[in-house]
Amino acid sequence: MNSIEKEKVYREAIREINAVLLGESIIITKMSTINSILRNYFPNHFWIGFYIVHNAALVVGPYQGTLGCLHIPFSKGVCGRAARTGQTQIVADVHKDPEHVACDSRTNSEIVVPVFDSKKRLIAVFDIDSTEFDSFDEVDKMYLEQLVKHQFAETPLEFGYKIFQQQSS
Ligand code: SME
Repeated sequence: MNSIEKEKVYREAIREINAVLLGESIIITKMSTINSILRNYFPNHFWIGFYIVHNAALVVGPYQGTLGCLHIPFSKGVCGRAARTGQTQIVADVHKDPEHVACDSRTNSEIVVPVFDSKKRLIAVFDIDSTEFDSFDEVDKMYLEQLVKHQFAETPLEFGYKIFQQQSS
């Protein structure tokens, strides 16, 4: 897929995500829906999902794909680097990145986008893996950053599930 085709697919996918999630505020519902729709538009994405910040580390959240690592400290992984630096990480060849954590050896490239809430607090990272080398570029970065900004910083956000609210009160 060239850059022009990729931009077109992103525009359509993001339009659909934002339409489906209009008025939605529950974090896990947003994350699950983003994974489902994006994977449908980009069927070659091997793994797509969120790691949520919990107790100063990352714990796997909603995802699609093969079994993901459950916990990743901020000190490890491309995900940890995205969390530490607050910057999107694009890795063209994960085998050449000493910090990369392999949850599935079929992954060859990945992008990890930090997710902030409206108060600029890091709440998660969004990770997409591909079996192809060099799958991700500035086009992916731009659209994915725009998507997570809109869904997690510019629109209302809540845990939503009573079980969490009861346990934390
Ligand atoms: N590769 C990631 C770990 C998560 S999985 O790819 C699902 C990393 O290096 O942080």
